[in-house]
Amino acid sequence: MAEDAILGFLEKNEEILDSGKFSQEKGISHDEIVNAIRSLNGFGFVIAQDIKREKWVLTEEGRIYAAAGSPEVQLLLAIPLEGITQEELQKKMDPATFKVGWPQAMKNKWVEKGKTHVSRKVQNVTDTVKGFLMQIQNDETLDSKDIDALKRRKLIVLQTWKGYSARKGPKYAPKRIKEATDLTRENLHSGDWKNLKEYNFSAKGQPVEGGHLHPLLKVRRQIQMIFLQMGFEEMQTNNYVESSFWNFDALFQPQQHPARDSHDTFFLKVPSTTRELPEDYVELVKNVHESGGYGSRGYGYEWKRDEANKNLLRTHTTAVSSRMLYKLAQNKPFAPKKYYSIDRVFRNEAVDRTHLAEFHQIEGLVCDRGLSLGDLLGVLNDFFSRLGMSKLRFKPAYNPYTEPSMEIFSYHEGFKKWVEVGNSGMFRPEMLRPMGLPDDVRVIAWGLSLERPTMILYGIDNIRELFGHKVDLSLIKKNPICCLGLE
Ligand code: PHE
Repeated sequence: MAEDAILGFLEKNEEILDSGKFSQEKGISHDEIVNAIRSLNGFGFVIAQDIKREKWVLTEEGRIYAAAGSPEVQLLLAIPLEGITQEELQKKMDPATFKVGWPQAMKNKWVEKGKTHVSRKVQNVTDTVKGFLMQIQNDETLDSKDIDALKRRKLIVLQTWKGYSARKGPKYAPKRIKEATDLTRENLHSGDWKNLKEYNFSAKGQPVEGGHLHPLLKVRRQIQMIFLQMGFEEMQTNNYVESSFWNFDALFQPQQHPARDSHDTFFLKVPSTTRELPEDYVELVKNVHESGGYGSRGYGYEWKRDEANKNLLRTHTTAVSSRMLYKLAQNKPFAPKKYYSIDRVFRNEAVDRTHLAEFHQIEGLVCDRGLSLGDLLGVLNDFFSRLGMSKLRFKPAYNPYTEPSMEIFSYHEGFKKWVEVGNSGMFRPEMLRPMGLPDDVRVIAWGLSLERPTMILYGIDNIRELFGHKVDLSLIKKNPICCLGLE
């Protein structure tokens, strides 16, 4: 091995004077010796110095003549003793050889041109050019005038040869022990870690790749904290599959309502219907849809159980609220509650820059005796101002399950306009009374999407960059831990 040869040689000798000669002596290729010297030099085992030597080498043309003879001699030998026409001679010879050989032979006065024929002027010559070229090939030295002549004819060129001289360096050792790159458990056990390598204790460790929170999770956390600070309890939302009953019927949403169409809602094929519903309550819901009660006239249509049984992917988290309120109504005596939820909902929608077929809803509700629209306005102002939206406006709206209903708008300082941020209302008696809640119990509620505030907070304008398979993971890694204030 080149490295051992070099280090071994330097153990007994002062210096390797010439890597070229050294490589010949050791029978190791010069490239190998050079690479080893460079590497040993880099690690301080040796000190290397460049050596440059210039050397004449044959050009392509020179190599041809060294083998076949100079073109002028080739031309001379091609002329028969009795002579030949120039035309014939040219035909006989390789054109390139003729072209170079002819003027050269004329210059040397080797050939004679008569009226019709070309003939030899000398009978025999020694091919000195070929001789010189062979000498160069054998690394022999030539007179400078001969070198000049070959150089002029472009038969030789100067080539620089690069090599090194080398002597012991500050870290010299007769053998190089490769530094360990990894420290293994075995190294630590046996104690040989002490001699394995030089340690750099101030080197930085590998950066730790931790998990990264998606912006939706970060904003969800912020909103959760706001609800908790306001004294709300989280509702259990772990059922994406819901029956039409809890998603629509319990919410006094008539069975012909367009949202209940398969163009808007994903219905389940398997299992296509719900297993059980609270029968007494179902009866009351049927009645209120068909003929009303509690001061209402109802919708006056024939309510169908089959329609209510259909399973679907919940279209809003209000389905969770209806279940919770029903449950709450069963606890006697009535106790007021503040509930919230943040979870996924599904709608059969055309996907565009602001819509996906699944998104997240935030929902809050307060259930207590004697609540009024004023309470709703107060809670909304409190909730949204904690999110950084303190300028709110309300617009009358319609939901089958709330009366009155209000859309919520917030003034966006950046966009310089009012943007819709949510929907709200007071649940209708047609919804609450069949559940069994006392007469004077009112429920104020509101809902908004989680995506909307997240996109505003994180400056994302295409929902597909926030959620789904087109999300750029590096963006999620680089997102700030949190963003404060929506304006
Ligand atoms: N469920 C409504 C929606 O999907 C939001 C809402 C919740 C409205 C509660 C009023 C009361 O948009």
